[in-house]
Amino acid sequence: MAPVNPFEDPLRFERRVPECAVVIFGANGDLTKRKLIPALYRLAYDRRLSAGFAVVGISRTPMSDEQFREKMQEAVQSFSEDTEFAPDVWEGFARGLFYVAGDVNDSELYQRLGRKLAEIENSRSTGGNVLFYLSTQPSQYATAALGLGSAGLGRGNGWQRLIVEKPFGHDLASARALSDQLHKVFDESQVYRIDHYLGKETVQNILAFRFGNGIFEPLWNRRYINHVQITAAESIGVEGRGAYYQEAGALADMIQNHLLQVMATIAMEPSASFRANSVRDERSKLLRSIKAMAADEIRASTTPGQYGPARIGGADVPGFRQESGVDPQSQTNTYAAVTVFVENWRWAGVPFYIRSGKRLPKRVTEIAIQFNAAPLAIFDGDTGDTGPNLLIVRIQPEEGISLKFLSKRPGTGMKLRPVSMDFNYGSSFGERSPSAYETLLLDALIGDATLYTRQDMVEASWAAVEPIQNVWRETQSDFPNYAAGTWGPAASDAMLARRGHAWRKP
Ligand code: BG6
Repeated sequence: MAPVNPFEDPLRFERRVPECAVVIFGANGDLTKRKLIPALYRLAYDRRLSAGFAVVGISRTPMSDEQFREKMQEAVQSFSEDTEFAPDVWEGFARGLFYVAGDVNDSELYQRLGRKLAEIENSRSTGGNVLFYLSTQPSQYATAALGLGSAGLGRGNGWQRLIVEKPFGHDLASARALSDQLHKVFDESQVYRIDHYLGKETVQNILAFRFGNGIFEPLWNRRYINHVQITAAESIGVEGRGAYYQEAGALADMIQNHLLQVMATIAMEPSASFRANSVRDERSKLLRSIKAMAADEIRASTTPGQYGPARIGGADVPGFRQESGVDPQSQTNTYAAVTVFVENWRWAGVPFYIRSGKRLPKRVTEIAIQFNAAPLAIFDGDTGDTGPNLLIVRIQPEEGISLKFLSKRPGTGMKLRPVSMDFNYGSSFGERSPSAYETLLLDALIGDATLYTRQDMVEASWAAVEPIQNVWRETQSDFPNYAAGTWGPAASDAMLARRGHAWRKP
């Protein structure tokens, strides 16, 4: 028989998950039902999971395997937005769902889990491969990891990996302490700190755009780029997460992790290869090059905000201090804007303005790269409506890239107008984009950590954010300072105006 030609094998380039089990701590929580199980179901639907694939849900609520399966079926039917519910796929997937009830603080739980995993290894030939997913209260991450260690579950046949949800610490010292605890059981190569922004198609596309093309790199530096604006606006409020959010705030919830990772993707040096540590070394180096600011610089270059009540579209919207679980005097920032400088040869002197907020006028995440103006204005008189050259990377809701440049308006005379060259993901590819959790779970299951954050990256971003957090905590802010449904506090506009810049209205 002729040998199989691997180049003719249609699955050769497909990323497939080997036999393994995923253990989810926090299986009764929101993330499990909204994101994790729908993402795993989609992987099953796409036939990327092996026949022996198993999931073990863990939480305190007593439940049988059968009840867990029913609950997860409801989750898939409610939250798999763009994937049909295929009964045959579900049947196969559901046979691999198991449940263990227990308290993360109880050492017995890990013994029970160990027995369950041994059974699964036997019955489903998982070879001992396990991905543990910590989606509990952050205060339980270390306890769960140490519990796994005490039952000998951090090492064994096959591979063992640990995904840790955000927030990873609440400042530099706590992030470091958490890594130290995890490292008692899992070494750094086993730890996958998840940042779902890195799994978004458009964030990954920044790498393709920058390093798959030759034409942008020569422009990608301080000589041609005037400044960069990164915006992650949300129209929703805190949606019942008041108690968590009150402790975190926008700076820690969005900027310390997601947006600094996005910035690192935009600004990092080309990596020598697309291997996990090569890419992560560059991201890390960039984050470590963020300029440290003294307290008075922080006061001038950053803006905290908090939304107050407003009437939007005929409905009364409460202010943050009126949300349930929130202290009526709360000093928490629901809006954060920061100016970041990178101290390296490529970026010295180029401001990166980063902002994120709740209850802004719409949901939009984008990066706007503003280029320097033409060195000379040669068109005399009224040249019409001019504006800067902008490259806009739209992360959501519409995903795409636009280049804005000036064009002559038809007619006599030289009147200019900004026009736009647009690439839209949906219409160009006509294919569904996987969700960030699908991408990231698949990566962790095949052992690819490229899109996961490493200890040094998390610590570098805390080192950048913590001094800002400290100054904001020490200063009594005049909150609320923006009305729900508006683009944030006036001080944020003034912060850019000082350098002759203005926020774009996305
Ligand atoms: C989460 C934050 O990490 O990201 C939330 O905790 C925020 O507060 C969410 O709403 C935004 O994610 P996305 O993918 O909807 O932009």
